Amino acid sequence: MPSENRHPFLKGLSKHRGAPPTVVVIFGASGDLTARKLVPAIYNLALDNLLPSDFFLIGFGRKPIPDDEFRQMAEDSLKEFSRRDVDEQIWGKLKSNTCYVDGPYGESDGYKKLKEQIEAYEKAVGRDLQVLFYISTPPSVFGDVVSHLGDCGLAARNLGSPLASKVVVEKPFGKDLESARELNATINQHFGESQIYRIDHYLGKETVQDLLVQRFANSIFEPLWNRNFVECVQITVAEDLGVGTRGGYYDTSGALRDMIQNHTMQLLSLTAMEPPVSLDPESIRDEKVKLLKAIQPLELGSKNTDVVRARYGEGLVGGNKVPPYLDEAGIPTESSTETYASLRLSINNWRWEGVPFYLRSGKRMARRVSEIAIQFKTPPGILFSSSNVFDLSSNTMVIQIQPDEGVSLVMNSKIPGLETRTQPVRMNFRYKTTYGSNTPEAYERLILDAMIGDSTLFIRGDETEASWKIITPILEFWKTCGNQGMAEYQSGSWGPLESDQLLWENNHKWRKPGP
Ligand code: NDP
Ligand code: BG6
Repeated sequence: MPSENRHPFLKGLSKHRGAPPTVVVIFGASGDLTARKLVPAIYNLALDNLLPSDFFLIGFGRKPIPDDEFRQMAEDSLKEFSRRDVDEQIWGKLKSNTCYVDGPYGESDGYKKLKEQIEAYEKAVGRDLQVLFYISTPPSVFGDVVSHLGDCGLAARNLGSPLASKVVVEKPFGKDLESARELNATINQHFGESQIYRIDHYLGKETVQDLLVQRFANSIFEPLWNRNFVECVQITVAEDLGVGTRGGYYDTSGALRDMIQNHTMQLLSLTAMEPPVSLDPESIRDEKVKLLKAIQPLELGSKNTDVVRARYGEGLVGGNKVPPYLDEAGIPTESSTETYASLRLSINNWRWEGVPFYLRSGKRMARRVSEIAIQFKTPPGILFSSSNVFDLSSNTMVIQIQPDEGVSLVMNSKIPGLETRTQPVRMNFRYKTTYGSNTPEAYERLILDAMIGDSTLFIRGDETEASWKIITPILEFWKTCGNQGMAEYQSGSWGPLESDQLLWENNHKWRKPGP
């Protein structure tokens, strides 16, 4: 049975134990995300006794799936993807409260059936239930689902009470600034902002949440966190996987939309924002929006020296030969989609004037690693320079988001011996060593937060628009170029040479990621 001692995650959870009786409805329930992340997250919440005693799960999708088959699909996904084994008793209870409703996303029939099913559950338990709608369909369907939830009265259920309906919207939130604005407008027609949870699963990662603690709960870092001491900031979100079976979606998206606009920009915002006045959701989100608005618009066109795009060629990943992007399933030969993007951004504010922020994200890179590296300025070179016995490195604080989560500090140290010789060394804090393994998945935290109405780790409407405002001109610029300027990198490498050149101008160079 679940025990309070299993993981520090479970300590001090009074707020998180207070989720009201809830029905979670997943749209797109036969899909990849549901199987790999959502169902396992809900099950692990049940295992930790964090779900309300009256909890129901309804899958929704276009093709008819009998309840029993859906339950079996859910069980299979748990066996394959849950971070902990399936406990028959816990799963048995959840399974008996799980069913499936089918219907087209763009017509009202299915939503009527859905409403009846929710009411049947309410009747069975003799009380009203909160409904959390989780839209996990391809983005082209988001608007339809929201509109129908509004039109059939499901969005306005229990409005003004703690059981008011909520909607979680998956990413990507739009495909550019205009479509994000339209989607915001559609959602706002039917749901109030306090009912809307735009998800970015990076915010649910423990290490991303720890960023605020590292920055604002440690007095040694804050005085250094500015243009006087920081030389540059490098944010890397690298994956070793290719596009896999998601070629159809990915080719309409690319690295800039899929990763940089959301996950990487969130890491940037949390790294560079000013201290919020409190930890309440609006204060944090206000600071993130202020930061995004301070990013200087990029000079593109023929003067572009700030943005690089590339796609992977063939190469070796984990010792296996992998095909080039253009040979992946579902990718058209004339594709002009990037699988790698890197940016040099400047932040026009008091704290960061003159400090370059380098961002890069790509698929099929040397290995899977996400990190934020704060590179500090070098000390005056009077004492330890101009000699090959002094191997010096810039002091660098590395927040490793995943895998092998942790924080390390690169310093210079004397090698023991009679001669004075130096070498960079690392001070390392690893989550696994300090807190043990089996850290909860981001989706567990986020689904629970949405159920209890805490929007701190979700994106506000103006925030997503502020991010698209930076990204959209790049997309428009690339659209005018076709494949011109598309660099290539070998699968299994750290990206194209062009991306290295982005840093050379400032005498900087990409770190080889790792602790
Ligand atoms: P899928 O492609 O697996 O689609 C989910 C479900 O939506 C399908 O099972 C299908 O269900 C329905 N669907 C598929 N294509 C269409 C279509 N053209 N029109 C209407 N319905 C369709 O998506 P994922 O599960 O991979 O992703 C869901 C959402 O989550 C997306 O917005 C994605 O960007 C986001 N996301 C996904 C991640 C992942 O790792 N998969 C990671 C982070 C975010 P049915 O036919 O039964 O209706
Ligand atoms: C998703 C992207 O948002 O994030 C995927 O759509 C990507 O392309 C994934 O693989 C990476 O997430 P994580 O948590 O594995 O770093």
